[in-house]
Amino acid sequence: MTRRQVKFFFLFEAIPLTPSVPLKALTSQGRRFDVACRMIRSSLLFDGIPTHNSVEAWFGSDGGKILPAILSIDGHILDDVLLFKKFYSELVLAKFLKQLAQGSSEVPGIEINALELSTDVQARFLDRMKLEKLEGRRALVALHETGQAMVATGQEGALLFQDRETRGLSIVIGNHQGIPPAIEADLLQACDHVLCLSTITPEVGSQSISYLGSHVIDMLNYCFL
Ligand SMILES: C[S@@+](CC[C@H](N)C(=O)[O-])C[C@H]1O[C@@H](n2cnc3c(N)ncnc32)[C@H](O)[C@@H]1O
Repeated sequence: MTRRQVKFFFLFEAIPLTPSVPLKALTSQGRRFDVACRMIRSSLLFDGIPTHNSVEAWFGSDGGKILPAILSIDGHILDDVLLFKKFYSELVLAKFLKQLAQGSSEVPGIEINALELSTDVQARFLDRMKLEKLEGRRALVALHETGQAMVATGQEGALLFQDRETRGLSIVIGNHQGIPPAIEADLLQACDHVLCLSTITPEVGSQSISYLGSHVIDMLNYCFL
C-alpha cells in the first residue's frame, strides 16, 4: 500500500520568526522558539529518518514589532545530506531558521512568506484551514485532548488510516498553549475529524492526558503514519 505524506499545520501566534532569534535564550526572549523547532523537527524527522511530510508554520508579529510570517517546508529536502544536517538538533534548526529569516540563504523547498504587519494571524490561519478543507485534497484532522479516541483497535482508531489511504492528511496540532481559544471552536468545527491520542474518547468535562506537541507528532509517526 502506498501511503501519502502528511502536511502538518502549526499556529505559533505568540512566537516571532525573526533574524534576531536569540539562540542562547530560545525559551525566554525567543518566546518559546524551542517549541516551534521541536514540533517542526518531529514532523520532518523520525528516529533519524526523513518522514517526507511537509510543514506549514504560522508565526506572529511579536506585538506588532515584526512582520508575521508563514514558513513552509517540503520534507523531501531532508534527502539532501547537507540540509539533513540542519535538522540535526533543535538548536541547529533554530540557527538555520534564523539564517533563513535573515535572508542570507535561499533553499528550494523552503519558503518564508511575510504577511502584513496588521494581519490578524489567528483569523487568517482559521481562513487557511477552512480553505484547506474546501479544497479537499487531504482529510483535515485536528489533534485535540477532547477528540475521538484514535488509539484503539475499534472503529474510531481506523479513521486516520482510512483517510490516509485515500486522501492523505492535513493535521493541525496546537502549540504549548494549545489552540487559541478565540478560534478553537471554529477550527475544530471546520475539521473532518477531531482525534485524541487515547484509548477512550474523553467524557464531557474530562480531559485525556495532554502531551507535548512534539511528542504527539512522535507518537503519530511511531504508531500511525
Ligand atoms: C502541550 S498540548 C497543549 C496544552 C494546552 N495547555 C492546552 O490546554 O490546550 C499541545 C497540543 O498537542 C495536542 N495534544 C496534546 N495531547 C493530546 C492528546 N492526548 N490527544 C490529541 N492531541 C493532543 C493538541 O493539539 C495540543 O494543542
